[in-house]
Amino acid sequence: MVRVGLRFIIIIPSTCGKFLVFTIRLPDLKLRFKIEIQSINFMSLFQQALQVRECAHAPYSKFKVGAAIRSTSGKFFLGCNVENVAYPEGTCAEAGAIAAMVAGGETCIEEICIVADSPVPVSPCGGCRQKIAEFSQPDTPVLLSGLNGEIIRKTIGELLPDSFSKSHLPKE
Ligand code: THU
Repeated sequence: MVRVGLRFIIIIPSTCGKFLVFTIRLPDLKLRFKIEIQSINFMSLFQQALQVRECAHAPYSKFKVGAAIRSTSGKFFLGCNVENVAYPEGTCAEAGAIAAMVAGGETCIEEICIVADSPVPVSPCGGCRQKIAEFSQPDTPVLLSGLNGEIIRKTIGELLPDSFSKSHLPKE
């Protein structure tokens, strides 16, 4: 059977740089139709990291950090640093973004951007490099930026060479 369908796509801008995309499909020229609503984010990875940085809870260091991940499926996952009065209990922005990605059912980073207000573009701490490496390839881009959007592009392999990896674990 040849399936003939008509598809109309309507794109409506919404807040926060998102667009609502309505797909109206008339399958087999019958009057049944289906509306699919997707939320597509056209903000850059940098803009998203910059925006989520505003949510950081950093009353002790006053150093707010934002991190945005684009996963290999194209979805975005965001995180900010969350400090605690018991200082070692604080978490980094990268850890928050990775936790959001894993909770969202994804485990592969396509690229990650980290933004903070530092004189030179912020560089992830050692622990976060290891966390990023867990969900990356050596050539996965890590974009480091200050607030002005000037981005330094590294790979996780450059930031964490000779990293501890699965290859070091004994074979089962
Ligand atoms: N911080 C991050 O969020 N990511 C890093 O890679 C470096 C440091 C946070 C942790 C702490 O809340 C603040 O920055 C100051 O160290």
